[in-house]
Amino acid sequence: MESFTQKIYKWYINNKRDLPWRETSDPYKIWISEIILQQTRVVQGMGYYNRFVEKFPTVFDLASASEDTVLKLWQGLGYYSRARNLHTTAKLIVKEHKGIFPNDYKSILSLKGIGNYTAAAIASIAFNLPHAAVDGNIYRVISRYFGIITPIDSQKGKTEIQKIANDLITVKNPGFHNQAFMEFGALQCLPKSPDCNSCPLQETCYSAKSGLTDQIPVKEKKVKQRTRFFYYYIIENKNTILLEKRIGNDIWKNLHQLPLIESESELSEIEIINMKTPVNNHENVNLKSISGSVKHVLTHQTIYARFIHIEAEDFYSNDSNFIKVNKKDIYKFAVPRLLENYLNKFYSLT
Ligand code: ADE
Ligand code: SF4
Repeated sequence: MESFTQKIYKWYINNKRDLPWRETSDPYKIWISEIILQQTRVVQGMGYYNRFVEKFPTVFDLASASEDTVLKLWQGLGYYSRARNLHTTAKLIVKEHKGIFPNDYKSILSLKGIGNYTAAAIASIAFNLPHAAVDGNIYRVISRYFGIITPIDSQKGKTEIQKIANDLITVKNPGFHNQAFMEFGALQCLPKSPDCNSCPLQETCYSAKSGLTDQIPVKEKKVKQRTRFFYYYIIENKNTILLEKRIGNDIWKNLHQLPLIESESELSEIEIINMKTPVNNHENVNLKSISGSVKHVLTHQTIYARFIHIEAEDFYSNDSNFIKVNKKDIYKFAVPRLLENYLNKFYSLT
């Protein structure tokens, strides 16, 4: 079994962009790229990076430039303190470090304009030091994958995620590791509507499995509790009953269930009766009963389920996720607890 990290590495090798700062091991250039990328997207930052290192190929060139020249080159990028700090720090590196970029985490962190994230990025990418660089992308990937619901804008959440990131990083390839995670967050695990179906982590990702990618990472203090309305069909014909395999990115993926119609809002009895049943074809349908509402509480969602009992003379479905099974075999299938409870009750009563 490939690990979480190995899958991201493999994804990165296959999907990474060719970015100019990935072709250098010069800490000066890596520093420039990381400062530009602090508040700027890669696509927008690339041209600025290329012009910047062309104009100032070494820290000496930057240190000896005028601040106006530096700012002019920065024009349009915003957050101009970044440019001013770059310039100040370049002068310091020339004056105090003979133009040699410091090569340990503490010294890098002490430089003006460099915080935890940027220090870790430079230390790992330029010097292969095992520091986990946790940017917004990585907060998102880790919180979604592991189901961390501590708000990422709280100190507690930051510490929690940093700790996981520290545990994941290895001494072998920290620069590669950090960039693989960043790139994965930037291209695959997108903030809005990530494409989980094409994601190699889908099978083991907490948020994908529970249908919570739109709720994690959590940003405010309160976790939103989602309310869902499930209408399950008990469709029987003599000794057989219809089951459905649950597919898609949501809770209970690949478990079996009674055929289900989900509604955004609560339905009235009339609406339930008039609803098209989940089977394509069934004849001589006889509605036997509609249950009351059963409340089922999960960590992030509350489900209100009702059960519609139907007898049909015959039924079939073209959907291969539907299967007809003998009633006494229901218990061979993995079903959610909600259904297990209900069916136990239902069949001992009827
Ligand atoms: N964002 C911040 N640093 C980055 C890097 N080295 N590669 C891609 N995106 C980044
Ligand atoms: Fe992100 Fe979806 Fe992949 Fe999980 S499965 S890591 S939410 S893209």
